[in-house]
Amino acid sequence: MNTERWLSDTAKAAQASDIRELLKLTARPDMISFAGGLPDPALFPVEEYREAMGQVMAAHGQQALQYSTTEGLTELREALVQHLAGEGIECPDGIENVILTTGSQQALELTGKLFIAPGDTILVEAPSYLGAIQAFSLRQPRYEAVEMDGQGLKVDLLEAKLAELKKEGRAPKFLYTVPTFQNPAGVCLSLERRKALLELADREDFLIIEDDPYGRLRFRGEPLPSLKSLDTSGRVICLRTFSKTLAPGLRTGYMVGNPEFLRRIVILKQSADLCSPALTQYIILEMLQNGAMEKYIRQVIAVYGQKEAVMVAALKAHQAETGATFNEPEGGMFFWLQLPEGLDAESLLFKALEAGVAYVKGPAFYTDATSGRNCLRLNFSQPSVSQIERGVERLASIIQEARQVTV
Ligand SMILES: Cc1ncc(COP(=O)(O)O)c(C=O)c1O
Repeated sequence: MNTERWLSDTAKAAQASDIRELLKLTARPDMISFAGGLPDPALFPVEEYREAMGQVMAAHGQQALQYSTTEGLTELREALVQHLAGEGIECPDGIENVILTTGSQQALELTGKLFIAPGDTILVEAPSYLGAIQAFSLRQPRYEAVEMDGQGLKVDLLEAKLAELKKEGRAPKFLYTVPTFQNPAGVCLSLERRKALLELADREDFLIIEDDPYGRLRFRGEPLPSLKSLDTSGRVICLRTFSKTLAPGLRTGYMVGNPEFLRRIVILKQSADLCSPALTQYIILEMLQNGAMEKYIRQVIAVYGQKEAVMVAALKAHQAETGATFNEPEGGMFFWLQLPEGLDAESLLFKALEAGVAYVKGPAFYTDATSGRNCLRLNFSQPSVSQIERGVERLASIIQEARQVTV
C-alpha cells in the first residue's frame, strides 16, 4: 500500500531527529556514546523518589491520580512563582504567569503552533537545538540563522540581519535562543550581549523565546541573569524543565510569560494532552519543598564538573593529532568540536560507530542542514569518566586517520 498519499502536509514536513535515530544504533554494549543529551542515570536519587512518591500517595493520593487542570497544579505554580522571585524573575500576575508543560519539548511545539504561520520568519541561533528546529519546522517557517561565537549569539550580526529583513518587508515573529550553556555549542551569551539583545528586541519589536534547561547546571564561573529576569517589556517567554534538575522521566517543564500568550497556549495544550500528569507534578512539589531537588542539583554539578574536566584534559591530550578546537563549558552538558577544514563529521561518523564511539554531526543543528560539516557535538554528562577517556581516544584516532588521508 502506498501510505504516503494519505499523509497530511504536516506529517510529510516532519523529519526524524538524527539523535533519536542515532540512539538506536548506540545500543551496542561496547559503544561509548557522546551522542545523547542525557543526564547521568547513576545520580538519580531513586530512594528519595520512592519516599516522595510514598509521601504524595499518603497526602494527595486521589488528586495525584486524577486529571490535573491544563495550566498545572496550583500549589506547584505558586511554589514556582516564589522560586522565580528568588532568581529575579517577577511574576506580576502571580500564577497566571506560569503554566506547566509536558517537558519543555511540548512548550516548543505549542510555541510553534501559537506563533508560526507557514512562511513566517523566525530567528534562530546557528547552531541551534535540534528538537526546537524539529518542532518549529512542522509549521513551515522561514528560518533566519545568526552565528554565534564564544560569547553566544552575535547580537551585532542579528542587528544587521534585521535591517536586511526590514528592506525585504519581513518582520520576524521571535528569536529562539538557548542563552545559557547552549545546546549544542555549550556557550553562554555574555551579560553585555543579553542587555543589547533585549534593547534590540524592544527597538525592533520581536519576541524572545528563552529556552533554559541548563542554567542551574553551572560548575564554574559567575552566574548570569536570565533574559527573563532582565525583561522589562514582557516580550520574553521563558521555557524551563525539570528534566535536568530532577529527571527527564518526569516529563515536566514550565513556561513563564505574558498571561495572554499563556492562556492561548493552554487552549492549544488542551487538544495536545488535556494536562500534564498530576502525579509527577505532586512529586516535583514534594522534592522542591523537602530540599531533594537542590541536593540533587549540587551532586549533578559536582559530578558533571569533574567529567567536563576529564573531557577537556582528554581532548587537549589528543589535540596535536586531531587539530580540533573546542569550547571549555562552565556548565551544561556539551562540547562543540570544530575539526580542521575539509574534514566531514558525517562521513567520519560511520567509522566512529564502527570503532565504538558515537557523537552527533554538526549539520543536524543547522536549519540549512549543510553548515557545520566539520563540527560535532559531544555530551559529557552520561558517559563515565573512563568511557570519556577511552571514547576520546577512539575518536582521536579516527580523526587522525582521516587527516592523514586528506593531507
Ligand atoms: C535546549 C533544549 N530545549 C528543550 C529540551 C527538551 O527537554 P524536555 O522536553 O526534556 O524538557 C532539551 C532537551 O535536551 C534541550 O536541550
